[in-house]
Amino acid sequence: MKSMKARILITGRLPDEVVLPLENRYVMEINQEDRPMDHRILLQSISDKEGLLPMITDCIDEELLERASNLKMIANFGVGYNNIDIKAASRRGIMVSNTPGVLTDATAEIAFALILSVSRRLVEGDRMTREGRFKFWAPMFFLGHEVTGKTLGIIGMGKIGKAVARRARGFNMRVLYYNRRRIDPTEEKELTAEYADLDSLLTMSDFVSLHVSLNEDTKHMIGMKELALMKSSAYLINTSRGPVVDEKALVTALNDGKIGGAGLDVYENEPALTPGLTELDNVVLLPHIGSGTIETRARMASMAVENLVAGLDGAAPPNIVNPEVLKMR
Ligand code: DGY
Repeated sequence: MKSMKARILITGRLPDEVVLPLENRYVMEINQEDRPMDHRILLQSISDKEGLLPMITDCIDEELLERASNLKMIANFGVGYNNIDIKAASRRGIMVSNTPGVLTDATAEIAFALILSVSRRLVEGDRMTREGRFKFWAPMFFLGHEVTGKTLGIIGMGKIGKAVARRARGFNMRVLYYNRRRIDPTEEKELTAEYADLDSLLTMSDFVSLHVSLNEDTKHMIGMKELALMKSSAYLINTSRGPVVDEKALVTALNDGKIGGAGLDVYENEPALTPGLTELDNVVLLPHIGSGTIETRARMASMAVENLVAGLDGAAPPNIVNPEVLKMR
């Protein structure tokens, strides 16, 4: 007899406690490896699935959606959903959700870790010490730049930008921010954050931290022109999406001493790095671990599953990003 259970595909390994309860409800296919699912296999598997829980590394484009004639719900495992062609999904009446809020603090922590790492030369210092090159203490030995009291420019004042601003208070920093829309004045006051236009922020900040989502407007938002506006001592921090920065321009700016350094968790052609990046000592490079804590990844998994179940049950997923689809039903 044909199973009445809906078929779902989860493209990455998630905690057992989140996945096992789904066994009663669905026929599940799960990529159990801790690496992205092969895209050809994804294309083959999608045709009979009603639900998809993809990772941010899966490209959910027109070609895939074309084959997904049974698909009702895509519950992305991530707050960013630039890996999904939302317009194409909406046209087909497929709901899409993300995981906002639960990774705010973890990502803000990594932004601050990068701020401290690049300015105080933590990774470089660790390398030197392990290699036995720490021979003596001296007043002028291995100096970095202080974070306390400096100016932090936050580009993108959403949840994560605000969480970074809150942490900056502990370092007595002046916080400037640039956002498409100015935030509420009471919130500006609470965060002690001053609105600035993009050019002024770039010119005045000692640290520029990026917290925008990736879309047509923000792609290469930081390029040669913007890097040239920054102080030659300033650091660029990116924990948002790689393509927000023109990475070739960044390598040139770093080589030419146009800026002081960079702390990156994300890359333009992830996981590939632009040639030249790894040769620079004033750069700290992380493997996209902004949300990479046990606690946060567990919360993201629960949230994605909650959205998936709601969508397949015919309810509105709590974190739907294309609510226009609900009106089409
Ligand atoms: C997201 O959720 O968009 C993050 O980049 C994953 O760490």
